[in-house]
Amino acid sequence: MRGAIICAAIAALASGLAQAEPADEFPRYRLPLQPPGLRKRQEEALRLELEKRAGTESEGSNITYTQKWFRQKTDHFDPSNNNTFQQRYWISTQFYKPGGPIIVLEGGETSGAGRVTYMQTGIGRYLTEYLGGIGVVLEHRYYGQSYVTQNLTNESLKYLNTSLSLKDNAYFAENLWKDLPANLSHIRPDETPFISYGGSYAGAKSAFLQIEYPEAYYGSLASSAVVWAGENFWEYNEPLRKNGDPICVAILEETARRMDNYSATGGQALDDFKNLFGVKNVENRDAAQFIFGVLGIWQGGNWDKTLSGAKSWDKFCANITDGLNEGYFDHSCDETVLSATPAGEYLDIEKGIQNFARWTRRSVQSNCGNGNVTECLSTSDEQGFAGTSLADSWKLWSWQVCTEWGYLMGGAPAGFPTLMPRIVDMKYLRRMCQYTFNFPPDFVIDSDKVLKYGGFNLTAPRLMYIDGDNDPWLYATAHSPYSPQKDRSDRLSVLIKESWHHNDENGLGDISLEPERIQEVHRLQIEVVGDWVKEFHEKKGRQWKPPRV
Ligand SMILES: *[C@@H]1O[C@H](CO)[C@@H](O)[C@H](O)[C@H]1NC(C)=O
Ligand SMILES: *[C@@H]1O[C@H](CO)[C@@H](O)[C@H](O)[C@H]1NC(C)=O
Ligand SMILES: *[C@@H]1O[C@H](CO)[C@@H](O)[C@H](O)[C@H]1NC(C)=O
Ligand SMILES: *[C@@H]1O[C@H](CO)[C@@H](O)[C@H](O)[C@H]1NC(C)=O
Ligand SMILES: *[C@@H]1O[C@H](CO)[C@@H](O)[C@H](O)[C@H]1NC(C)=O
Ligand SMILES: *[C@@H]1O[C@H](CO)[C@@H](O)[C@H](O)[C@H]1NC(C)=O
Ligand SMILES: *[C@@H]1O[C@H](CO)[C@@H](O)[C@H](O)[C@H]1NC(C)=O
Ligand SMILES: *[C@@H]1O[C@H](CO)[C@@H](O)[C@H](O)[C@H]1NC(C)=O
Ligand SMILES: *[C@@H]1O[C@H](CO)[C@@H](O)[C@H](O)[C@H]1NC(C)=O
Ligand SMILES: *[C@@H]1O[C@H](CO)[C@@H](O)[C@H](O)[C@H]1NC(C)=O
Repeated sequence: MRGAIICAAIAALASGLAQAEPADEFPRYRLPLQPPGLRKRQEEALRLELEKRAGTESEGSNITYTQKWFRQKTDHFDPSNNNTFQQRYWISTQFYKPGGPIIVLEGGETSGAGRVTYMQTGIGRYLTEYLGGIGVVLEHRYYGQSYVTQNLTNESLKYLNTSLSLKDNAYFAENLWKDLPANLSHIRPDETPFISYGGSYAGAKSAFLQIEYPEAYYGSLASSAVVWAGENFWEYNEPLRKNGDPICVAILEETARRMDNYSATGGQALDDFKNLFGVKNVENRDAAQFIFGVLGIWQGGNWDKTLSGAKSWDKFCANITDGLNEGYFDHSCDETVLSATPAGEYLDIEKGIQNFARWTRRSVQSNCGNGNVTECLSTSDEQGFAGTSLADSWKLWSWQVCTEWGYLMGGAPAGFPTLMPRIVDMKYLRRMCQYTFNFPPDFVIDSDKVLKYGGFNLTAPRLMYIDGDNDPWLYATAHSPYSPQKDRSDRLSVLIKESWHHNDENGLGDISLEPERIQEVHRLQIEVVGDWVKEFHEKKGRQWKPPRV
C-alpha cells in the first residue's frame, strides 16, 4: 500500500511539471550509436541549439573566460614525431589570489565551449571564487576545434585514445606557464596545485590522472566518473528500472517483452505492434532501438529544472500514465507484480502501452520529420556510415567507444528483467562500429586499455568521487553495486540522492540558492580542495588560507 501512495504522488508531480513545458519541445532521442538518417537530422538540430545556447550564455555572466590556444604534441609517445596541434582552452584569472589553485575542468567528449558555463555558475565558479583560483576549461583533443588531423579517416583517428589524452593534460599543466604573463610564471605543478575536475568520461580521465600523472595534478574531483569500461553495458538502464516511477517502468518492461516475443513469432501480431508504434516498415531491431531510445532521456535528469532535458523524463512518464484507470492506485506498485498482472485486470497496462505507442508515433515524426521513416531509422546500409571530414564529428566518440570503451547498451541477459528488448543485442550494436570504421566483423573493443588504471578498484589519496543514485552510468562508477568501494563513507566518496549524471557540475552561481543536498556537496568540494591546497603549501613550509569562507 505504501508503494501505491508513492506512485500516485510521483505521477501527480510529473504531470504538474509536464504542463509547464511548451508543447513544441519534444525530446530528441540521442541513441549512443545513431542510425545515419536520424543522426543527420540531429546534427542540424544540435548545431542550432548550440548556437542558441552560446548566445544566451555569453550574456548572463560577468565572469570572463578568454579563449586561447595551446601548442600540444600530437604523439607524446613517439619521439620521432614532432607534430603538434592547437588545443583550445579558456582561462580566467578574475578570482586569482596568490597561492590559489588552478582548477582545470576537463572538456571531455564534446566541444569545450559548452563547459565554460560551469566555470561561471557551477563547480568551477565555486572552487575559483572561494579558493582564489585560476579557472581553465581544457578542450579534449579532436573535439570542438582542437583538431589534430585534417580528416577523420580511421588512419587519422589513431591519435585519439585515452592514454594520449591523459598525457595532454599533464603536458598542459607543465607548460601552460610559458603562455602566461611573467607574473604568473609560478603557475607550474611544482609551485601551484593543479586540480582536475571532470564529469562522466571526463570524470574518468580526472580519476586516471591520479594514477598516471599525480605530479601534474595534485588532486582530482571525479564526478560520475566511468572508471569501468567494457563492451556490454546493459546495466545502463538499471538505475531507471529500479528508481523510476514503477508504473512507467512496468509499461516499458511489458512493451519490451512483447517486442521480443512478437519478433520471435512474426506474423500479424508483430505487424500490428509495429504499426501501432509508427515503425511499420522498419527492421525489428532498428524499430526496437528507436522505440526504446526514450530510455536515454532519463540521463538528462537534474535538480535544476531550468536545464534543457531536465523535465523530459517526467513529461514522458506523465504522458504514458495519462488516463490509466484510477483503480490501479489501490494495488501494489511493485513492478514485478505489475508486469505479471494479466492485462487490464488491475493496472490498465494495455492503455499504458497505447499511450506509449502514441508518444512514439509523435516521436518518430519529431525525430524523422516527414521523411521516409525506414530510411531515417535504418542501420543496415553500410554507406550511410561513410564520411571522414572534420564535420563528421559524430565519429569521434564512436571511435573511442568502438576501440577502447565499449558501453554498448543492449537488452539485459536472459534471466534479468529488461527495459531494452533483448533483440537489441551485442551483434546488432557491434555492427554499427564495423560499418562506421570498416572494421572486420571480429574486431575487438580493447577495454583493458581503460581498466588498467584500476577499474572499480581505483583509489588515490587525493581523488574524490561524486556520483548520483539515479545516474544511468552508476554501474560504471566507483559507486556501482559491483564496486568494492561502493559503501565507502569517507568524505572523498559521495553518492548524491535524487541526482543523475554529474549533477554537481552545474550550479546556480550562488550556493545558498541550491537545494540542500547540492549545497552540501558543493561546500564539501570547496572544503576538500581547500585542504589539498593548504597541504600542498604546508609541504613547502608555506602558510595558505582560503580567501573566502
Ligand atoms: C557580478 O555581478 C553581480 C551583480 O551585478 C555582482 O554582485 C558581482 O559581485 C559580480 N561578480 C564579479 C565577480 O564581478
Ligand atoms: C624532433 O625534435 C627533436 C628535438 O627538438 C630533434 O632532435 C629531432 O631531430 C626532431 N625530429 C624530427 C623528425 O624533426
Ligand atoms: C586524410 O588526411 C591525411 C593526412 O592528414 C591524408 O594523407 C589523407 O589522404 C586524407 N584522406 C582523406 C580521405 O581525405
Ligand atoms: C595511443 O595512440 C598512440 C598513437 O597512435 C599509440 O602510440 C599508443 O600506443 C596508443 N595507446 C594505447 C593504449 O593504445
Ligand atoms: C600581473 O600583471 C598584470 C599586468 O601585466 C596585472 O594586471 C595583474 O594584476 C598581475 N597579476 C598578479 C597576480 O600580480
Ligand atoms: C510469446 O508469448 C506467448 C504468450 O505469453 C507465449 O505463449 C509464447 O511462448 C511466447 N513466444 C516467445 C517466442 O517468447
Ligand atoms: C501525450 O503526448 C501526446 C503526443 O505528443 C499528446 O498528443 C498528448 O496530448 C499528451 N498527453 C498528455 C496528457 O500529456
Ligand atoms: C522508404 O525507403 C525504403 C528504403 O529505401 C523504400 O523501400 C520505400 O519504398 C520508401 N517508402 C516510401 C513511402 O517512399
Ligand atoms: C580503415 O579503413 C579502411 C578502408 O576505409 C579499411 O580497409 C581498414 O581495414 C580500416 N582499418 C582498420 C584498422 O580497421
Ligand atoms: C579489485 O579488488 C578486489 C578485491 O577487493 C579483487 O578481488 C579484484 O581482483 C580487483 N580487481 C581488479 C581489476 O584489480
